[in-house]
Amino acid sequence: LLAEGGRHIRQVCRGKQVLLVEDAAVATHAASLAGSLDAEGFQVARLTIPSGEESKSTAQLAAIWDRLGELRFGRDSIVIACGGGVIGDLVGFAAASWLRGVDFIQVPTTLLAMVDSSVGGKTGINHPTAKNLIGAFWQPKLVLADLGVLSTLPEGERISALAEIIKYGVIRDEVFFAWLEDHIERVGDLREAPRAIHRSCEIKAEVVTADERETSGLREFLNFGHTVGHAIENSAGYGTLRHGEAIAIGMLAESELALGRMPHWTQPLHDRLVRLVERARLPLRVPDAIPLRLADVQIAARSDKKNRAGTVRYMLPTRLGEVANVALTDEEVAPILLRYGVRP
Ligand SMILES: NC(=O)c1ccc[n+]([C@@H]2O[C@H](COP(=O)([O-])OP(=O)(O)OC[C@H]3O[C@@H](n4cnc5c(N)ncnc54)[C@H](O)[C@@H]3O)[C@@H](O)[C@H]2O)c1
Ligand SMILES: [Zn+2]
Repeated sequence: LLAEGGRHIRQVCRGKQVLLVEDAAVATHAASLAGSLDAEGFQVARLTIPSGEESKSTAQLAAIWDRLGELRFGRDSIVIACGGGVIGDLVGFAAASWLRGVDFIQVPTTLLAMVDSSVGGKTGINHPTAKNLIGAFWQPKLVLADLGVLSTLPEGERISALAEIIKYGVIRDEVFFAWLEDHIERVGDLREAPRAIHRSCEIKAEVVTADERETSGLREFLNFGHTVGHAIENSAGYGTLRHGEAIAIGMLAESELALGRMPHWTQPLHDRLVRLVERARLPLRVPDAIPLRLADVQIAARSDKKNRAGTVRYMLPTRLGEVANVALTDEEVAPILLRYGVRP
């Protein structure tokens, strides 16, 4: 797909000038795309961004703007992000803000970016006080997901993305969940990745189409596992747990919170989720090597989303394929967090 990327981009963009912004780890893949853009007659400039979450910064954003300025990029220019979610979010925001918005193309190179961050139009950077605080909704003209690039992706990154794939089944599609139960190992080793990526994108697109700017509440469905997951991820500190690993633990904890609260969410359903997460080789609880204090996790959960006084909102499964918003107090959640490896 990358080798014929130029042709696909030609079909959706009028401009000739392209800035291809790439993660430092994907130079070979980006070169293949650049070659096909050249062949299609585009004028291509390339800019490499260091790998890692730290690059979702004002400094890297300014580096992209500087380059666009030097190259005198006009209204019909095209900005391409080639990398994982970090590059997609950063470069998407640069495209959204340059001349109040120029054509943007996503070329996701991680499994997570293929199933999650490249779809839905959320772009942005981090602020020292919190992640993803500054940004814009800016939809890509095209998302080019070439499965070939995943061959160089480290295994841990691949496994981490399985958490989001499992999430889609729980929130929206019982049949997909059952399919994952039959194929999770083969999704993990990429033999069955196409079907999983396709269905994940469909579900995310469906949810985002119904609630693009997070106004009606539907988009919040995507937060299943994320209230606890983010709280664990943030209190563990950046780089300690991968996002998907934290979300896996978050999904299990929130599934357990649903037991007894959601009449149709039963122990057998919870057990199926545990089994699937385990077979994906995702963690089932906070590893012993990561000491997390209950008070810190609860503070992180409270600051994560707009919450009413005294409670935190969770998306809990009501049955397989459906979730609902529930507000819970710290006292209600504490015993579950303790069961998942958080310390008193
Ligand atoms: N916009 C959204 O809707 C959305 C949704 C979910 C996550 N995100 C954001 O996405 C980011 C996480 O994305 P991610 O998990 O893709 O992380 P990432 O972009 O940091 O990529 C993970 C690692 O893989 C490397 N890499 C990428 N592609 C590779 C390849 N093909 N071969 C070898 N190495 C490769 C990168 O250099 C990096 O070290 C976070 O910043 C998160 O906030 C955004
Ligand atoms: Zn997530």
